[in-house]
Amino acid sequence: MANLVVVLTYILVSGIFISKALANLNDIIFNGDYEFIDLTYPFDEHTVYLPNTKNFEFTKKIERFQNDGTWYSSNEFVVGEQAGTHIDAPYHFKATGQCVGDIPLDKLIIPLIIADIGSSVNNDSNFVLYKHHLDFMLNDNMGKPCFIIFKFGWSKFYKDKNKYLGITKNNTFNFPGLSGEVAEWITSSYKNIVGIGVDTASVDPGSGTDFFAHKTFANAGLFIVENVKLDQPVPEYGCTALILPMKISSGSGAPLRLVAICPKQIPTHF
Ligand SMILES: *[C@@H]1O[C@H](CO)[C@@H](O)[C@H](O)[C@H]1NC(C)=O
Ligand SMILES: *[C@@H]1O[C@H](CO)[C@@H](O)[C@H](O)[C@H]1NC(C)=O
Ligand SMILES: [Zn+2]
Repeated sequence: MANLVVVLTYILVSGIFISKALANLNDIIFNGDYEFIDLTYPFDEHTVYLPNTKNFEFTKKIERFQNDGTWYSSNEFVVGEQAGTHIDAPYHFKATGQCVGDIPLDKLIIPLIIADIGSSVNNDSNFVLYKHHLDFMLNDNMGKPCFIIFKFGWSKFYKDKNKYLGITKNNTFNFPGLSGEVAEWITSSYKNIVGIGVDTASVDPGSGTDFFAHKTFANAGLFIVENVKLDQPVPEYGCTALILPMKISSGSGAPLRLVAICPKQIPTHF
């Protein structure tokens, strides 16, 4: 009996060690069951930006074949922190909040949830998201840390800047966004959401002027990602987000490369 226990213990323990040794992330993400989806708009002359943000300026400095016939290119860019697909660090709206360079990696490589509210929005540039629109999500288990992107269905307008920003003759903006109610709800009852993304130019409605959602998220230490490129299908659950901004030490925001690693067979639950 004692021997049997020893043998069983040995099998168990060695089994645990073997399975630990095999748990290699490369074996999982490169086995053909996953795909990489780019959720980032390119930085070029079409990049969308809001007022007070410097648009992306690309200067070709050196572009030439050298005497030995080999090519050499080395250029420069200038861009506001909050242009195109970008992150807002809490410091954007909170003096003591984290700067971009302070946001730890375990908040930037994290499970992704896409909340598709496009059918409620219905292309309405004055749509504001309230709690009652999210009833379908109330039973989801969001106990785990996650990054949630609200999909307003706005990426299809990105190529037409005036339509995307809803620029009116009186130079105001009109695009959908989050109500203060939803922002407060997220930061109080859904504490494990570490960041909020939107497929519009701002988490706050375009016509708003109080930046209530920005301030609420900044005060609660959440980061924001704006101008998410959602013009292709992305599973609502089961993807991992890579939210990788330029590591600007004192940045209130930064240009971002946003990627989702998604299972090809789509899970239906978080
Ligand atoms: C929303 O806009 C798109 C692009 O203009 C259009 O194809 C679609 O039919 C519109 N949807 C509704 C519900 O109006
Ligand atoms: C600007 O125009 C839009 C739509 O044309 C209107 O809803 C809004 O009230 C106007 N804003 C101001 C400040 O006049
Ligand atoms: Zn912002």
